[in-house]
Amino acid sequence: MSQTAKIVLNENEHDLPVVTGSENENAIDISKLRASTGYITIDPGYKNTGATTSAITFLDGEKGILRYRGYPIEQLAANASFMEVAYLLIYGELPNAVELQLFEGSIKRHTLVHEDMKRFFEAYPAKAHPMGVLSSMVSSFATFYPESQNPDRNSEAINLTIHRLIAKLPTLAAWSYKNSMRHPFMYPKNHLNYCENFLNMMFAMPTEDYNIDPVIADAINKLLILHADHEQNCSTSTVRIVGSSQANLYSSISAGICALWGPLHGGANQKVIEMLLKIHIDGGNVDKWVEKAKDKNDPFRLMGFGHRVYKNFDPRAKIIKKSCDDVLEKLGVDDPLLDIAKKLEKVALEDEYFKERNLYPNVDFYSGIIYKALRIPTEMFTVMFAIGRLPGWIAQWKEMTENGEPIGRPRQIYTGHGNRDYVDVAKR
Ligand code: ACO
Repeated sequence: MSQTAKIVLNENEHDLPVVTGSENENAIDISKLRASTGYITIDPGYKNTGATTSAITFLDGEKGILRYRGYPIEQLAANASFMEVAYLLIYGELPNAVELQLFEGSIKRHTLVHEDMKRFFEAYPAKAHPMGVLSSMVSSFATFYPESQNPDRNSEAINLTIHRLIAKLPTLAAWSYKNSMRHPFMYPKNHLNYCENFLNMMFAMPTEDYNIDPVIADAINKLLILHADHEQNCSTSTVRIVGSSQANLYSSISAGICALWGPLHGGANQKVIEMLLKIHIDGGNVDKWVEKAKDKNDPFRLMGFGHRVYKNFDPRAKIIKKSCDDVLEKLGVDDPLLDIAKKLEKVALEDEYFKERNLYPNVDFYSGIIYKALRIPTEMFTVMFAIGRLPGWIAQWKEMTENGEPIGRPRQIYTGHGNRDYVDVAKR
């Protein structure tokens, strides 16, 4: 039965349609509210605003559920490869054996980055953050593949762009790391799978082969799957809103990378390790830092704790915590920062302040720890997140485009000066 919501404004009643999703989530459709009443709605940070309907990811923050195209994240993380998940998100169904082979084959064909782009790296300072390098390199792809700028989006051209992006992002990421040390770049090796190839480009040297540890490659595969999509988060909404102006996919993804970089979003995994290091250098007194996080006059927050939508637990954090324990045990890692992380997790989980506000460790808390154990450099953590999130961004951009969604353009309530006359500079 279709529902209607009623709103009473200045004693006049207005009916508003209710939209119901396939998991019985309800929304009041206010898209015509201004036309009929002159009112808009206001919701800073879009905490309670649905920007779109979407068939890609279902998330229930209260129950801790996350599914991609209906498949529980727990099953995908336990059984699938990142390539299967990428295909699932972008094309809607899990690939059969032939589809997977074709998809993987096409990704492998596009792993090389144009030789002219290699020269761009020389211009970056050695200390350039790899997220800055990644976003500008991805944006530059649009100049190397100008056909991507054509807003007449035929599916063959879009597919080529999608495959190029998925194929080239690990190459760019690994090269930005090599460049930060002024080490020679390692070219992709197409007999390796996606995760192995990335590890090889990161850690092999022309003088020395790199033995790919299957435990590490598996952990990377799982981490990428866990990060692959998360419905309308900050970076994904950025990709959709940039793409809604008919900007090309490369530019939209580049904008998503920039949004992800922030410490309140994907940048948190790097900040977790920096915070643990700070606590360690300060003597390792975890209680002191928990008190600082609770002090409203102190801007310090416990990085890796809290989430906008998960108010019970983060299902990704649950999976990754287990994987983190396994990897640390298998690799025999002994690191004082990991001890601090464990203490911090325990103290915060038992503290009333954190319990009352439903602040639990999020995916970034554990992913930072696990990346450190895998010897991924700290500045590369958010880049790892970007590689994982890429299929989700692409799927969301593609859905938005195929649905012909209008350009994103929120409104505002103006709170500045009223009309006033210009005063000449000499009289001010
Ligand atoms: N440490 C201490 N207090 C916190 C923390 C934290 N990490 N997170 C939230 N709080 C407190 C706030 O001060 C606020 O307290 P109050 O009600 O007394 O004012 C309350 O909890 C609610 O916090 P908000 O900032 O309103 O929650 P919001 O949903 O806007 O923010 C966010 C969510 C940004 C993730 C926040 O919890 C945070 O800053 N966490 C640390 C950064 C982080 O780990 N980000 C990664 C998120 S996961 C991801 O992007 C993949």
